[in-house]
Amino acid sequence: MLIADQVGFRYSGVTVLRGVNLRVEAATTLAVTGANGCGKSTLLHLLAGVERPSEGSVRRAAGSRVALLPQRTSGIDGLPLTVAECVRIGRFTPRRLLGRTDRTRVAEMMERLDIAHLARRRLRELSGGQRQRTLLAQTLVQDADVYVLDEPTVALDVTSRQQVHEVFAERVRAGAAVILASHDAAEAAIADQTLDLAAS
Ligand SMILES: Nc1ncnc2c1ncn2[C@@H]1O[C@H](COP(=O)(O)OP(=O)(O)OP(=O)(O)O)[C@@H](O)[C@H]1O
Ligand SMILES: [Mg+2]
Repeated sequence: MLIADQVGFRYSGVTVLRGVNLRVEAATTLAVTGANGCGKSTLLHLLAGVERPSEGSVRRAAGSRVALLPQRTSGIDGLPLTVAECVRIGRFTPRRLLGRTDRTRVAEMMERLDIAHLARRRLRELSGGQRQRTLLAQTLVQDADVYVLDEPTVALDVTSRQQVHEVFAERVRAGAAVILASHDAAEAAIADQTLDLAAS
């Protein structure tokens, strides 16, 4: 599904990643671990295709769809979006209006992540965990072949974390690849393979 070959990355001359190799098959999970600043978010951006490597290559299966949950999302708080609108954005495409399937998928995911009762609240009026569940719902309503998730459950309570992990497992069983960055050993343990950036 996705192959990184000798990937390197520099921010204005400063090397952050060097010689990263990985291969993620369909229906598997990769956890990316390592200390603050070791380059996990940078690598996830390269894998999702929002940044280009300075060296080496990232190749994804032709036609594969990527859904990205970034770590830093504070920009969205300035928008006057409700929780429901924020989740619906995950189903938007430029070419058509949202239909019944889209509305059903949004409603189901909001129920599963326990944010349905917050539908009309603004993002900036939420607790950290409620906000994170909203952004996760926006990512998980997307029909993707590769889900790239940067510290997806960082602010979540134990129950929410389990619910989110169940959704990941379902997507993997359905054939998607899940790539997540995490500082939580228990979360990394759900993955089929782990890339420890500090050690690479
Ligand atoms: N836009 C940027 N410009 C310059 N340097 C950056 C930029 N973004 C990140 N860096 C630097 O690149 C390195 C890797 O950052 P990155 O955000 O990928 O780390 P991380 O492993 O995700 O850390 P954390 O665990 O804190 O999320 C850090 O040293 C950081 O200071
Ligand atoms: Mg990070």
